[in-house]
Amino acid sequence: MTKSTEAGLPDSSQIQPLWTDPNLPPDQFLYDRMGPWPQPAPAYPMTRPPEVLNIPTSEDVAWWEWIGSRLVLDYLVAKLEASGLAKTDLTRPLPTDYEFLQIMTRTVYARYLRMESPGSAYWVSDFTAMELIDPLPGMYCAPVVCRFLLKDTVFTCVSITFLKTATRIKELTVTPTDKAWNLAKVYACQGAAYHALFVVHPALHFPMDSVNAITKTAVPQIHPLFQAIFPHTTYTLKLDNVVLEGEDTIVNKTAPTTAWDPLTANGYNLKQLFGVGYSGYKGLAAYPQYNYMKPWMNSGTLYGMCLRQYFKPFLAFATKIACVIPKTDPYVKRWADYCSANVYGFPDGLAIFDSDNLARVLAIYMWDVSVAHGADHYSFGYDIPLKDKFLRIRRPPPADINDGADVQKVGDVANLDDLTRAETAKIMFFNVFTLSPNLIDTTYAFKEAKLQAAVTKFHADLKSIDVDVRNIMPEFMCLERNLDPFNGPIIVDEWTIPASIQF
Ligand SMILES: [Fe+2]
Repeated sequence: MTKSTEAGLPDSSQIQPLWTDPNLPPDQFLYDRMGPWPQPAPAYPMTRPPEVLNIPTSEDVAWWEWIGSRLVLDYLVAKLEASGLAKTDLTRPLPTDYEFLQIMTRTVYARYLRMESPGSAYWVSDFTAMELIDPLPGMYCAPVVCRFLLKDTVFTCVSITFLKTATRIKELTVTPTDKAWNLAKVYACQGAAYHALFVVHPALHFPMDSVNAITKTAVPQIHPLFQAIFPHTTYTLKLDNVVLEGEDTIVNKTAPTTAWDPLTANGYNLKQLFGVGYSGYKGLAAYPQYNYMKPWMNSGTLYGMCLRQYFKPFLAFATKIACVIPKTDPYVKRWADYCSANVYGFPDGLAIFDSDNLARVLAIYMWDVSVAHGADHYSFGYDIPLKDKFLRIRRPPPADINDGADVQKVGDVANLDDLTRAETAKIMFFNVFTLSPNLIDTTYAFKEAKLQAAVTKFHADLKSIDVDVRNIMPEFMCLERNLDPFNGPIIVDEWTIPASIQF
């Protein structure tokens, strides 16, 4: 492509081709235009988003160097520590009503809270899709719906209803004064944990893989669209591929034979829940079909309010990037057509130039893979004690409202092996480990001075929003170096908001 002038100097117009030139050659693309691409998911392709199955070698190597090797070390640590931690877990009490409310309304579990009807004081968290799980022998799960009353900004849980199933011919509603209340809370916590792991959180991961791969393959590296998205794509394609298709993943059929699988069913069965989070379930309001343009940030909850606040600087930044892209840009048009063919709700090549769609699409991608995804892990890993996750339950659901008075501690519903596995998974998968550069230290390869100025302003806005967010919810994931949540005043940044999905 590069031509030389008669004096032997490179022709500068050829070295820096205009990024809107529709005839850019393959060497202007990250992988010579032979990069990753989405294809139908091997399991449940009718309901799940497409997967990226062929990972570029360089991304494979980077994942092993920075993440795979850490998982091996984490497993060795878990072998030493998990069983001791689990022994203590067995003796620990079930969550009190106050702790239960904190978990269900102030953490990532706030994602399920939905007003029962417009203007109602009652809210529900619906875990109907638990009926899809086929538990391993000796274990149980149940579809339940929690009902909350919101009064003066304070939630109270008024009931937990066990829905009809093949073995339960009539719904059972348990209230806080019933003897079955503790056991009912255990099942509600289980439903919430599985919906975090398999319904709402995967919707942050997997649809974005298509955008990640298509950007790398179909957008030239000198294009501002590529330069905006690329810093937020590191490690993710390989990570998601390992999670979904790896030999040792907790979502394949043989997962229960590993030492780190803490779950109650084989992974192939559980994978159905990924489809629920993407395609919806039975037309229920609790399970809307995924829509790229409508990410969850419900400001009726504190957790959602924090996510909404954080979205503002991303949109302002993305608007400045979108402004330098002409509405006739051929790469953006094709990029949008490819993405829209693979991701529900993504605007196509015509709609991408309507209104503020391009800015919004960019902002949603960057915000989703950094703040929204990171905050979920942080909340699930640190704000919800492991003993309150109840990933395996060995006590059947209550037969009536008086069944379960003897259920007082964690050891009444789970055994040592269950909790050792859960502690192992916590060390390996649930904890967060942000790699450098984190979100606030991320740089962008923009050539335009005004876009570099936009980066400076973006970083300043993020810092200012972080202060606001800390006032709303002090426990929300931090933007910058923060205190070790367990050991006190050790300053670390591995718990800060990451630039991409890397755990
Ligand atoms: Fe994740």
